[in-house]
Amino acid sequence: MELAGHLVGAGTLVVVAPLLVHRHPELYSSPAAFVPERFIGGSVPNPATWIPFGGGTRRCLGAELALAELEIVLSELVAAFTLEPTDARGERARLAGTVLVPARGATAVLSRRGAAIG
Ligand code: HEM
Repeated sequence: MELAGHLVGAGTLVVVAPLLVHRHPELYSSPAAFVPERFIGGSVPNPATWIPFGGGTRRCLGAELALAELEIVLSELVAAFTLEPTDARGERARLAGTVLVPARGATAVLSRRGAAIG
C-alpha cells in the first residue's frame, strides 16, 4: 500500500511515535515548550493527534484511571503546596518506559502553603 507517499510492503511493521506526533509544529504551536495551559478551555484533544495512551485496540486500559488520578493528586498537591525551581541548571528529558521524565530527577523546592516564613 502507499502511505503518505511511501510504498509499504505486506508484513511491514508500522508504528506511530507519540513523541514525534506531540512535537509536530503543524499540530502544536511551540511544541517543545511546557505549556499545560494549551489544554485549558479549548476543545477536547484530538484523539488522532494527542496519543499519550496510544490508540486503537491496544490503547492503554488505565487511561481514564490515570487521568482521574492526575486530576485528584495534582489539584490536592497544588492546593496544599507551592513548587519552585531551584537554581540548578535546566535538564534534559529522558525516556522512562512510555513517558519522558527529567534526566536528573527535577529537584524543586516544596513548601506548604501558608507556612510561616523564616
Ligand atoms: C499517565 C499514566 C499512563 C500512561 C501515559 C500510559 C500509557 C500507555 C501506553 C502508551 C500504552 C500502550 C498503548 C498502545 O500500545 O497503543 C499503555 C498500555 C497499557 N496500560 Fe497504560 N498508561 C498509563 C497508566 C496506566 C494505568 C494507571 C494502568 C492500569 C491501572 C495502565 C494499564 C495499561 C495496560 C493494561 C496496557 C496494555 C493494553 C493492551 O496491550 O491491550 N496504564 N499505557
